[in-house]
Amino acid sequence: MKIPIIAIAFSLASMQFAMNAFADESKSQNAHTQTEKQKKFQQTATAKKKQNVRKTAPVSIALGKTLYKQYQCFDCHSIAGKGCANGMKLDSVGSKRTKNFIREHIADPDKHFDKNPKAFDADLNLMPPQNLEPYEIDSLVEYLHTLK
Ligand code: HEC
Repeated sequence: MKIPIIAIAFSLASMQFAMNAFADESKSQNAHTQTEKQKKFQQTATAKKKQNVRKTAPVSIALGKTLYKQYQCFDCHSIAGKGCANGMKLDSVGSKRTKNFIREHIADPDKHFDKNPKAFDADLNLMPPQNLEPYEIDSLVEYLHTLK
């Protein structure tokens, strides 16, 4: 009689063990889907927020200054000695160029270069397209035009 009791106790214990393992696994799976869901929700919320900012942000010199840094225009340009040492200086772009000239260049450097080949000391356009929103372009224009 002793052996069967031990056997039953053993099998009960191993069943308990298996159930625990199963419970743990489903718990961790649950936790996993939770975080995935939360992540997705957060991503959508951030994207929506960004879209709203992009749609409603007003044009300003201050925003232009921020965008100049944010989009790293200084990789190829310099202002007051800050930025790319060999890059094109934008220090007095506001007295050299009209707002329209600056706007057209930022909006589509390639097209603008081809339209005004004599305005530049180079044979080809080296500024990549910036793909900016209209209010971003306008803000950059307002900012750059203050540089005299
Ligand atoms: C990869 C290098 C590069 C980046 C990045 C770049 N530019 Fe340029 N940019 C140039 C070059 C080179 C020229 C000279 C003309 C040309 O090649 O199109 C130029 C010309 C200009 C001009 C015309 C200036 C003039 O007096 O003729 C403006 C304005 C300008 N860039 C603004 C910007 C702004 C604003 C940004 C950032 C949003 C920017 N650039 C980013 C390379 C760059």
